[in-house]
Amino acid sequence: MREMTYLEKVIDETMRKRPVVGHLLRVATQNYQHTNPKYNIEKGTGVVIPTLAIQHDPEFYPEPEKFIPERFDEDQVQQRPPCTFLPFGDGPRNCIGLRFGRMQVIIGMALLIHNFKFEFHPTKTVVPLEYRTDDILLSAKGGIHLKVSRV
Ligand code: HEM
Repeated sequence: MREMTYLEKVIDETMRKRPVVGHLLRVATQNYQHTNPKYNIEKGTGVVIPTLAIQHDPEFYPEPEKFIPERFDEDQVQQRPPCTFLPFGDGPRNCIGLRFGRMQVIIGMALLIHNFKFEFHPTKTVVPLEYRTDDILLSAKGGIHLKVSRV
């Protein structure tokens, strides 16, 4: 699994473009003072961290709508500030299943693409993909319809 480094980048780029958890929630445990008072946060204030927007910010990800797995080459990752890639959250309350979740996705994807071919369904696949607006998680309106055949 560790040798499938390009697949890992493909999965990271997928989670950058389509983070299932599109925003993180926190409550400030202490007053936070910024040099610009506009950004001061009072203790007890709820904070929404917009993962989807951060991961589409062209300052960190030029041409954010493009699918470019090479963005996750080690040298490119090093150039971005921390907290610009948050599909599993960050800090002491980040996802406890991060490694397990990643492992499942990598093995699942490797087996699927090894054994099956995936194509757009001639009529049902919606392009460009549209998001549901009635779901707290980021999900596709009407589901994702693909034609799957054995290779
Ligand atoms: C690809 C799969 C997964 C994704 C994208 C994902 C994403 C996330 C995200 C974004 C959070 C919130 C982190 C934060 O607020 O900083 C979270 C929390 C959490 N996840 Fe996952 N997760 C995945 C798989 C899993 C799995 C497999 C498990 C369990 C085996 C798991 C267990 C948890 C738990 C318990 C929390 C709450 C942690 C806390 O509040 O301290 N997750 N996950």
